[in-house]
Order: sequence, then structure tokens, then C-alpha cells
Amino acid sequence: MHTTEAQNSEIPLMEVKDLTVEFKQRHGRNLRAVNKASFGLYAGKTLALVGESGSGKSTIVKTLGKLIKIDGGSVALAGKPVKNYRHTFEYRQQVQLVFQDPFASLNPVHTVFHHLARPLLLHGKADKKNVRDKVEELLEKVKLTPAAELANKYPHELSGGQRQRVAIARAIAPNPKVLLADEPVSMLDVSIRLEILNLLDELRQKENLAILYVTHDLTTARHFSSSIIVMHKGDIVESGDTDAIVLAPGHPYTQLLLNSSPKKNLTKEELGKERSERLAGKVSAAMKQSLYTNKGCNFIDRCPYAKEVCTAAPGYFTVGSDNTHKAKCWLYEPNSRQ
Ligand SMILES: Nc1ncnc2c1ncn2[C@@H]1O[C@H](COP(=O)(O)OP(=O)(O)OP(=O)(O)O)[C@@H](O)[C@H]1O
Ligand SMILES: [Mg+2]
Repeated sequence: MHTTEAQNSEIPLMEVKDLTVEFKQRHGRNLRAVNKASFGLYAGKTLALVGESGSGKSTIVKTLGKLIKIDGGSVALAGKPVKNYRHTFEYRQQVQLVFQDPFASLNPVHTVFHHLARPLLLHGKADKKNVRDKVEELLEKVKLTPAAELANKYPHELSGGQRQRVAIARAIAPNPKVLLADEPVSMLDVSIRLEILNLLDELRQKENLAILYVTHDLTTARHFSSSIIVMHKGDIVESGDTDAIVLAPGHPYTQLLLNSSPKKNLTKEELGKERSERLAGKVSAAMKQSLYTNKGCNFIDRCPYAKEVCTAAPGYFTVGSDNTHKAKCWLYEPNSRQ
């Protein structure tokens, strides 16, 4: 189906509503790794998902890639609800993943040709006669040339960047609509990260892909995405157009992410001390209590603006005049209850 640019920007190809994922823990309550996350992925657009380690980014990717189950909420692909949780052939064709570690995701005993021929044949994008040509076409798309030579190599004969290009070629082999890229360059040498991100960006345009780009790095998120969602402890704390988020971040956590430069390496004890000093100085007894009951804002113990109202969980409020820019923070409550 041919869609126009205008349609692309209005109807999400993948629509995620109130997505919730919990993990059982050995002791105590379940860990809510993703708490009611809602967002859309649009054809021909990149959405960046940023947030610190453990905030739930990969859990979202794994859920959308159908590697783990949803505990609440819904996902729709091209308007159709995605059922829990069978691997359907059609879904696999339309939604593909690229992981952080290209070495781990390729099989060391198989050639590049094998890695690419398999999905092409499986999804009917090549037959036995033309599969070699189709593999070479794919290799050219990801700029692995000379393609005929590269096709015969094994993963250990390739550089990290070349391996990630193979992983990307494999992901686009079935001609998917959605690409979920979980920190696709963070294990690569700094000097080649940009090349791989440029390649993904070119494929987005040429193949009209909807990309979810997971990263710790707001600089590349800024460069390669049209919108951004920011996660903190399982919550999407801010979402909006890339420029709005980067130039006028609303949530204090996003502000912190944007201002954070590499600081001196604090030891675990020093970090603990810093945290308890902050708690003692800024947070009242009621606020401390909310940390333990987990009912208030999850950012309360790190927030420079924390007030009593933050012991209740905030909703999403519009930041500034752009109503697509939202933050989960009482600072933006229109009647300012603070
Ligand atoms: N299979 C699992 N079982 C139990 N807990 C899990 C599992 N997978 C993830 N978690 C927990 O869920 C939370 C979110 O993890 P997740 O991997 O999604 O974070 P992330 O944002 O991708 O972090 P990183 O930036 O380090 O990759 C973490 O607290 C993690 O320990
Ligand atoms: Mg992760």
C-alpha cells in the first residue's frame, strides 16, 4: 500500500498504549519495568527512546519484538491489535530487531550469505535461483562491498561495524515496516558509530521504515530522530518533538540528562552518601515515606524541585504551548498545585 507523507505523519504504524511489563522478583513485590507506556511509531520516522540504565528501554524493545509478554496495555500494528503472544509469521516479517552486540547476534559457524539467504527465502523475497543476487543486493544496500566477496566471509572475519551492517541487512531482508534498534552502535568503535547511524537513517528514508532508536546518547538522538521519549524507572517522563525536548526540556530528569557531563567516578559509598545528603536536605518526612510506598513521583529523591505535591503520582501535562510536548511532572500542572 502506498501512503503519502501526510498520512504517514498522522496514523501511527505501531501504536503502543499503556504498555506495562512486570518481572517477578525472588523477594518481595514484582518489579514494574515498564509502567503504562504510550507512544506511536510512524512510517519514515525515527523515535528515540532515551534513559539511564535499567529504566526499561530494552524491556519495551523486547516486548514489541514479542520476546517477552505484556502484562497490561495494548499494541497495534497497522491498526490491528497485536495478540499476546504467539510468534506470527506476518508479525516477524513486519517488525525486525537490531541488537547492541552484532557478534552475539550472528552465528559464528555460518557465512554472511547464509545469514541473509535464510530470511530472504523464508519470507519469499528470493528463490533458490536468484538468492545469491538478492543477497548481494542486500549487501550493497548496507554498503558492504565488494558484495560477492563479503557474502563468503564468516562473522569473525569482519570488523564490528561490518558485523552490525550484516545484522542490519538481515533485519531489512524481509522488507519490514518497523525496525527496533536497541543501542545499535553502543558496542562499536566511536569512529564508526556515525556511519552506522547514517546508514540506518538512509534506510529509514529509502524503505519508509518506522524506527525505534534506543540510546543513552541524547546527542545522536537529537541528530537522528524526529521525536523523543524519555524513560526513568519504567515511566515515560517526557515525550515530544526532538527540538522541543532538546531545546526546552520540561522534566527535571530530562534537564539532568541534557546537562550531565562525565563527572568524576564516584564510588558506591560516595553515591549512597550523596543520595542520603540530598534526601536529608531537600525531602520532608512525607516525601521520604512516598519513596518507600512508591506512590509518588519516581524522581522525587533526585529532583531539585521536589515539593509535597510530588508525593502523589503526577499525570502528563503539556509543557509550553506545543500540546504534543508532555511531561509527567507536577511543575506543568496548569493550575500549579504547588
Ligand atoms: N528478564 C528479567 N527478569 C527480571 N528483571 C528484569 C529482566 N529484564 C530486565 N529486568 C529488570 O527490569 C528493569 C529494566 O531493564 P531494561 O533492560 O529494560 O533496562 P534498560 O533501560 O534497557 O537498561 P540498559 O540501558 O542498561 O540497557 C531493570 O531493573 C532490570 O533489572
Ligand atoms: Mg537495554
